[in-house]
Amino acid sequence: MPKSERTLVLVKPDGVQRGLVGEVVRRFEARGFRIVGLKLMRAPKATVEEHYAEHRGKPFFEGVVEYLCSDPVVVLALQGHNAIRACRAMMGATDPADAAPGTIRGDFATSIEANIVHGSADTDAARRELGLWFNASDLVNGGSV
Ligand code: CMP
Repeated sequence: MPKSERTLVLVKPDGVQRGLVGEVVRRFEARGFRIVGLKLMRAPKATVEEHYAEHRGKPFFEGVVEYLCSDPVVVLALQGHNAIRACRAMMGATDPADAAPGTIRGDFATSIEANIVHGSADTDAARRELGLWFNASDLVNGGSV
């Protein structure tokens, strides 16, 4: 039985700067995912550090936090059947060198840091990240899926 769930997607500064917001949103909508939250913002450092908390201490942590804060990002809450896994699949591998053609990163990304998008990895991450970037009252139907 397919399950409807919500996931958090970020269009990173490179995606916004290169005018790929429409393309990214188009792909998710065309695949059947519904936008339940959407905003353009300059990400506060504390939010990004919390967002990437699992990577704290890794060599790329400071760089990726600085990068996400360097220019505006688009924050999306998407809903649909198996949205977490399916949206990650549509993004492709984290390193664009490994990302299959037809995926967002495989088609557009230029480096592991400038890899266009972020998507929640699993149910726990999705719940945590949606709560971090959105007030439930700003989402369609509030916090309920
Ligand atoms: P994302 O899916 O947003 O999760 C963590 C991000 O850190 C990742 O995408 C990359 O953009 C970035 N990053 C930079 N260097 C690395 C690395 N060596 N391994 C994994 N992620 C990296």
